[in-house]
Amino acid sequence: MASDITLLYDTRPIGVLDSGVGGLSVLREIRALLPHEHILYAADQGHVPYGPRSIEEVRTFTLGVARFLIEHKAKLVVVACNTASAAALYTLREAFPETPFVGMEPAVKPAARDTRTGRIGVIATEATFQGELYASVVGRFANGVQVETQACPEFVLLAEAGETSGDAAREAVRRRLAPLLAAGIDQLVLGCTHFPFLRAIIEAEVGPGVCVIDPGAAIARQVRRVLDGRGLLNGSDAPGGVTYTTSGDPAAFRRVLNALLGIDTRPDDVLALRWNGGLLGWAE
Ligand code: DGL
Repeated sequence: MASDITLLYDTRPIGVLDSGVGGLSVLREIRALLPHEHILYAADQGHVPYGPRSIEEVRTFTLGVARFLIEHKAKLVVVACNTASAAALYTLREAFPETPFVGMEPAVKPAARDTRTGRIGVIATEATFQGELYASVVGRFANGVQVETQACPEFVLLAEAGETSGDAAREAVRRRLAPLLAAGIDQLVLGCTHFPFLRAIIEAEVGPGVCVIDPGAAIARQVRRVLDGRGLLNGSDAPGGVTYTTSGDPAAFRRVLNALLGIDTRPDDVLALRWNGGLLGWAE
């Protein structure tokens, strides 16, 4: 009997990780779909950006962040970062077999299904394009479709600075998307979780003839499916809370959280983390 009650009210948090603020584009979808769940968000801003780093380095960081979330009772971990998923998803599942993981992969499948021109664009980080996960997604889903790729490292920095609508952002978007538009794409896959924050200017640049695909809502549905399938949902009616943590500067994180999602936080809502000998823990 007692264990049934525990199952109905699994109040442990969902862990969400990213190199920085990109995972917030997934977090907002999870919050909308699963408002009663608690979330523990970890931004590894001490190491952002992940995109220009080697796969091995990103894998080491991702394992450290996931370990921190699991040590703090995460019942499921969302790797809300395409780069970290590309580098570490298989390793994470091996290293923590008890914990379910939901990762990101570029949404080539719906883009290839819906294209009319036969040409789709994928924007992501350099590391994501180098990983085996990306090659496997293209191999599985892109049959007969031409895939144009473009790394957009500035987009990550713009989102990290909360600068998602000014001239610098518009100029970067124009420059990076020009080759894709010239190639005649009609689907554009946002293959990095930082990019949905630039969606308004991306859509203005590509125009109505190009469909922009953000997988955030699909990832939230996958989180719900996995939790439900394992009896891990929190059946409580009370609203869930979010604890934000960062290995960077909590004050800067709070400012950008406000700029990107309009969320006001108190200093205590964003907690500082420190790397110490390869392990991530609370800052003193
Ligand atoms: N948000 C990340 C992604 O989805 C990583 C960006 C970065 O740190 O370079 O790939």
